[in-house]
Amino acid sequence: MSGINYSEKIPNNVNLSEDRTLQRALEHWQPNYLQWWQDMGPDGSQNFDVYLRTAVSVDPQGWAQFGHVKMPDYRWGIFLNPAEQDRKIHFGDHMGEAAWQDVPGEHRANLRRIIVTQGDTEPASVEQQRHLGLTAPSQYDLRNLFQVNVEEGRHLWAMVYLLHKYFGKDGREEAEALLERNSGNADNPRILQAFNEKTPDWLSFFMFTYFTDRDGKFQLCALAESSFDPLARTTKFMLTEEAHHMFVGESGVGRVIQRTVNAMNELKTDDVGKLRAAGVIDLPTIQRYINFHFSVTIDLFGADQSSNAATFYSSGLKGRYEEGKRTDDHVLKGNTYKILAVEEGKLLEKEVPMLNALNEVLRDDYIKDSVGGVDRWNRIIEKAGIDFRLKVPHKAFHRNIGSLAGVKVSPDGRVVSDHEWNQRVEEWLPSDTDRAYVGSLMGRVVEPGKFANWIAPPVMGINRQPVDFEYVRFN
Ligand SMILES: [Fe+2]
Ligand SMILES: [Fe+2]
Repeated sequence: MSGINYSEKIPNNVNLSEDRTLQRALEHWQPNYLQWWQDMGPDGSQNFDVYLRTAVSVDPQGWAQFGHVKMPDYRWGIFLNPAEQDRKIHFGDHMGEAAWQDVPGEHRANLRRIIVTQGDTEPASVEQQRHLGLTAPSQYDLRNLFQVNVEEGRHLWAMVYLLHKYFGKDGREEAEALLERNSGNADNPRILQAFNEKTPDWLSFFMFTYFTDRDGKFQLCALAESSFDPLARTTKFMLTEEAHHMFVGESGVGRVIQRTVNAMNELKTDDVGKLRAAGVIDLPTIQRYINFHFSVTIDLFGADQSSNAATFYSSGLKGRYEEGKRTDDHVLKGNTYKILAVEEGKLLEKEVPMLNALNEVLRDDYIKDSVGGVDRWNRIIEKAGIDFRLKVPHKAFHRNIGSLAGVKVSPDGRVVSDHEWNQRVEEWLPSDTDRAYVGSLMGRVVEPGKFANWIAPPVMGINRQPVDFEYVRFN
């Protein structure tokens, strides 16, 4: 395994200089990427020196180096985990055969589609978050936002490398198109709906990094099992970066809750009006944000029955979460799985062939994982002695894809009439008033160690720096 060469225009550990054609193609894409960053990346931040971590090697000991850099000078590059010797395909119809070092002709179209879809989410989230720097609640948070942004940019590089190296002219065209689609653009939107939603305030940002970056984790875990070895190695390294994004989300929401319960105890009230007058975000509003982000994110796993999902699995393109740890036959023919359906106005479980339900399998694994953080948020509330618990809504609530699309279900899992839905939707999802209130709290706090009133400081700084460290120099 070669180390990362930072003397090259494009830092990499894939011996890029030995493949001149590929190197030239990527060097041609690079200025377009930088132009996209300037146009669609963090607003007004081009000149800031930001305390960022940069990958210096892919092994766990030497992963990151911290220092102040201007974001356009960040060393975006191409980093793959080391190859596993004689790696074998470990699920699907090709099980036991050698993993592919190149793209098999018959899987080319599907693999390209998988890589493009993953690649499209990375710049999309940067676009969704581009104005948040203007209202950061602290320097610490601003730095975390930018860290997430540059790493999502690097994830785009990771997918573009695969497109350029393995997919020829089509791959190069797809790489250009990844810079042309834009989040929320009516004419040329991003591929997946959750990536066209706005991230208008910092509560949304924390929810997004907690829930939606976790979807990223599960998709990447499934791709890390792929028989296409370069994809598996690329996504394994992306996963190490993803962990920080989810930390930003979980700790961010936790700090909002901490501040709120402190205010509830100081004022001895759970009255929403009084808490809002005190400038903190009431727990019912936080619950509605959870309901929104959770439901929009679980749609990302796709339809509950999908012949594509079966094809991707059987042909070895995309595995299950932790495929290697499972003890079944890894072929799944004849296995079944329970999905939800609505019949005669009632939710019921229906048994279907597991291969067709693999989107649902991944969604259910995601749900199990995402509940953990909510439990930790509840511990903050419990410790403050407050009788309120947050929870993720029922899987069928507010769904837009698959057999539950458009069915009106309450957060506790009752099929409800249109009338009840309309009457209660403002209890269940953030209303315009909620969003306007949260928006009204957003103001920029830039002094080191100072925090906006609606959020508690973190327990620790980044990389063992103090909380009042100068994480961003504005120049
Ligand atoms: Fe990412
Ligand atoms: Fe991420």
